Amino acid sequence: MSAAGTDASPLDVLVLGSGVAGLSAAVRAAGVEGLSAGVLTKADLAQSATRWAQGGIAAVLGGDEDSTDLHLADTLGAGAGLCDTDAVRVLVDEGPARVNDLIAMGAVFDRYPEGGLARAREGGHSMARILHAGGAATGAEIERALVEAVRQTAAAIWEGWFALDLVVEDGRCVGVTVLDPAGRVSEIRATHLVLATGGAGQMFAVTTNPTQATGDAVAMALRAGAAVADVEFMQFHPTALHHPAMPRPLLSEALRGHGALLRDADGERFVDELLPRDVVARAMTARMLDQGVDHLWLDATGLERFDERFPTIAASVRQVGLDPAADWLPIAPAAHYLSGGVVTDLCGASSIPGLWACGEAACTGVHGANRLASNSLLEGMVFAPRVVEAILAGTDAPQPTGAMRAVLDGSAGPDVIGGRPLALELPGGAGGGADDVGGPANPAKERDRLQRAMTHGAGVLRSSESLAATAEVVAGVLSDLSDRPPTPEVAELRNVATAAWALLRAAAARTESRGAHTRTDHPDTRPEWRCRLVFGGAR
Ligand code: SIN
Repeated sequence: MSAAGTDASPLDVLVLGSGVAGLSAAVRAAGVEGLSAGVLTKADLAQSATRWAQGGIAAVLGGDEDSTDLHLADTLGAGAGLCDTDAVRVLVDEGPARVNDLIAMGAVFDRYPEGGLARAREGGHSMARILHAGGAATGAEIERALVEAVRQTAAAIWEGWFALDLVVEDGRCVGVTVLDPAGRVSEIRATHLVLATGGAGQMFAVTTNPTQATGDAVAMALRAGAAVADVEFMQFHPTALHHPAMPRPLLSEALRGHGALLRDADGERFVDELLPRDVVARAMTARMLDQGVDHLWLDATGLERFDERFPTIAASVRQVGLDPAADWLPIAPAAHYLSGGVVTDLCGASSIPGLWACGEAACTGVHGANRLASNSLLEGMVFAPRVVEAILAGTDAPQPTGAMRAVLDGSAGPDVIGGRPLALELPGGAGGGADDVGGPANPAKERDRLQRAMTHGAGVLRSSESLAATAEVVAGVLSDLSDRPPTPEVAELRNVATAAWALLRAAAARTESRGAHTRTDHPDTRPEWRCRLVFGGAR
């Protein structure tokens, strides 16, 4: 390990996380002469949700009847009134160039036999504009190309190191406390810290996210007082394979894009398969309750050359003894993507100077209340390099753009989504410390208990009652943790419980249904709730 990041020699840019966003930021920063950039990840560099991402990248590459205006309109439509239009404009306009950068870096996307890039349609998209790699192994291909580039360029790489908490001095983020692989706590200093630790699907018992997706960035930001918003909008993917595997194998939306059908317990179709994800997941949950079943069916038997076109999915369904050409595939919704996160402006600046966020960890304003399919890898690729550009331009404070307008801009109107502050009130103080003792004897059991409670009470359908019952469980976990020394298991549980607590508070406060947030006791979407619920960020 080099001296970079020590007190004597702080790094210029330290990226936490190694998914598409973190690695894109690191590659861009490391490419700037004179800028030292490092990456810290609790697993190894190639372990992230990106690696699991089957769905592709939505991008309008020109030469056909599609347009960035249509991509923008589809994104706004899926986002149910909470997207920031400027943020979406940046996404759709800059996306195609970032895709070309990836191709230049060596990423290989699927092509038609005649050579052009193959494009598919997915839910909520009005046109076929989704690029894939390896059928449904897009994330793995992107991760491969970026990991190779980072290994060649980064000044420092910490693998197997756990980021515990942000270090904020005089209102500025100056680094992070970390747990090294030997269990020692220390500090890594950096002039700019980029949160790119991905999502928080592990708040739930049924999720497509890998075990590392524990809401680390959101939890650290909440504890440091940075603005965090839209965390009630956990997106549930309609078609996860109904099987005890963790994470749940995903049956990509691309299958429905190619004609796979949803069937209920009687074998009937009941919803347009290409509607946005929140609508389909809700329709499925309602049908499952009506029919008293815990799963429905995806009928992909009509898809030709399944194994050849979707090798990753074919392998996972065959592993559980199913033949996609002959069998209907059992499916149920699973927690998939956190549309909210650490509030940023259009350049990834958080409400704390020196602290930046990108990818699923961030709330840029792109996704609103429900992310459009295949906009997530794209968001990481587009917004991560913008962080580095802003750092290079000497930007040192957030601007009232993107989701940050809910924190800095008091006005609200057709183009400005205002914010409502929400108090976090973490039970039992979730700070912990190296010298403390006590806490739950078995963090794995506690995590399991929390996940089950969240799936039961804060899943696709929620009510004031179910949220309150779940909050009791999460409060119990957090209180038990307050005096527990930080091991990776304890620190992850603390993060997952902190993120869950924020989700529950926001979901209880939002007395309407919108996008991925469905309240059975408040089924209507209400204009007065067209705002972001914001924790922290006071200036
Ligand atoms: C999928 O392929 O269905 C997932 C893609 C995404 O999350 O956008």
